[in-house]
Amino acid sequence: MKRIMVLNSKGGSGKSTIASNLAGYYANWGMKVALADFDPQRSSLDWLRARSQEYPRIYGISASNDTVAIPPDIDLLVMDTPASVQKEKLEAYIHQADVIIIPVLPSPMDIRAAAKFIHELLLVYRVSRENTKVCVVANRVRIRTLAYRALERFVKALKIPFVTTLRESRNYLQATESGQCIFEIPGRRTERDVEQWQPLIKWLHIDDSNEETETSNEN
Ligand SMILES: Nc1ncnc2c1ncn2[C@@H]1O[C@H](COP(=O)(O)OP(=O)(O)O)[C@@H](O)[C@H]1O
Ligand SMILES: [Mg+2]
Repeated sequence: MKRIMVLNSKGGSGKSTIASNLAGYYANWGMKVALADFDPQRSSLDWLRARSQEYPRIYGISASNDTVAIPPDIDLLVMDTPASVQKEKLEAYIHQADVIIIPVLPSPMDIRAAAKFIHELLLVYRVSRENTKVCVVANRVRIRTLAYRALERFVKALKIPFVTTLRESRNYLQATESGQCIFEIPGRRTERDVEQWQPLIKWLHIDDSNEETETSNEN
């Protein structure tokens, strides 16, 4: 099982949006996906509640008490986290993840907050880059403003992969409200959004053959 955590101490950066869309993407791809919501605001669980049974099932886990009871046979665990996590909790969270995705809005204030957060993650908690993959995703980008360029430079300087840029799009609002992911909204208007997810999917490099490999290794 692969464990992806979406993390940023700043509220409104797109953690729940990214967590739900990722869960949706891999569920559509045929993986058995669980979405654990560590946030007492329960945005991800609300999204799951709005989700029609027509769509591939995603197992919801309420983790706001910080315990994650994972159903058996889950291939992928996506973890959505709250803003302003206490230091001790943050440390505990980090150790539960194979991959950490940090969404950042390209505003000067958000970039400053992200700089502090990433510094803590790498230096204070010593996230091992060997055991944990870390990347940054720019979210709600309208145009490539000066703030966007500043974000790009900042992430590059830290040598953290700046994997993709998601545009500001009403499609995400629709998806949130309807329990869909961006990949389930038909029509051309989501084409650009779907395209923007591809670098992240590629970087995550998750394939559902892991279990087969493990089985064949045992033989
Ligand atoms: N790329 C985007 N385009 C438009 N709206 C977005 C986008 N990403 C997030 N939002 C909206 O911004 C708000 C905050 O996003 P959310 O994912 O809840 O952030 P967080 O979980 O980090 O607090 C939500 O209303 C969400 O629908
Ligand atoms: Mg959230």
